[in-house]
Amino acid sequence: MEPGPSHYVHGTDPEEQRRLTRMNRLLNQASLREVRPQPGERVLDVGAGLGQLTRALARAAGTRAVAIERSETQIAEALRQAEAEGEADLLDLRRGDVLDFPLRAEEWGAFDLAHARFLLEHVPDPLAVVRQMVRAVRSGGRVVLEDDDHDVLRLWPEPPGFASLWQAYMATYPRAGNDPDMGRKLVRLLAEAGARPSRNTWIFFGGCAGAPDFPDYVANLIGVLEGARSAMIASGEVRDGDLDATIEGIRAFGARGDSAIWYARSWAEGRRP
Ligand SMILES: C[S@@+](CC[C@H](N)C(=O)[O-])C[C@H]1O[C@@H](n2cnc3c(N)ncnc32)[C@H](O)[C@@H]1O
Repeated sequence: MEPGPSHYVHGTDPEEQRRLTRMNRLLNQASLREVRPQPGERVLDVGAGLGQLTRALARAAGTRAVAIERSETQIAEALRQAEAEGEADLLDLRRGDVLDFPLRAEEWGAFDLAHARFLLEHVPDPLAVVRQMVRAVRSGGRVVLEDDDHDVLRLWPEPPGFASLWQAYMATYPRAGNDPDMGRKLVRLLAEAGARPSRNTWIFFGGCAGAPDFPDYVANLIGVLEGARSAMIASGEVRDGDLDATIEGIRAFGARGDSAIWYARSWAEGRRP
């Protein structure tokens, strides 16, 4: 568990880092398509995790991005991956809490783009984070937020026990100081933080039988549930045996010829006036 007022529900062990890496492979092109970093833009990525998307944003802008991440374990793996891919120069990775950005005085108001993905659902005061993102960009600079709204997930044909297991998974969020409905709140947060909201969309995050990456989506979903196993068992709402049976059901679902995962993440953009 990471220190701090909220507990990052997914953790940072190697299996979870592999899941995050796999998810980045599935997600980053779609994020880039929406964010569209412009040449020369100065980018700040907060709650950067393993830094794969930070590097993709920096690569697209042709600049070096500043990334903020609290976990030493994530930072070590982010640096290892960046070096292995010859991209260490793209990352200015800073250890710190997103409730108190580790920026130098002259950096406030100097970024063209501040970005956060899958972060706000995990922090106790998301508005404080977005306020700092707004302060970090220049006048006219963009603040882009991407987050989950876990309630939109649908599997069909639904594996037995899945709906109640997903409810139990979402219930682990508030107990750890996290918010499973963050996605729907992004535009409101931008406005409350002093940005002018300008665009929102959903980015599809699903697949179906026959699509080459469908097994990765199924594996990602199982990884998410396995990662929350102890929290769900501790709540008393789920028993180990039932969880195992439902996960087996999801595997069987993934092997069918007619199955589909319907899921999307929320995406919103605003500008500093
Ligand atoms: C789900 S990961 C997302 C990483 C990355 N943004 C991505 O989309 O791949 C969330 C990250 O936020 C970090 N995090 C959570 N709370 C934080 C905080 N208060 N300050 C800094 N980082 C935090 C976690 O350590 C984790 O690496």
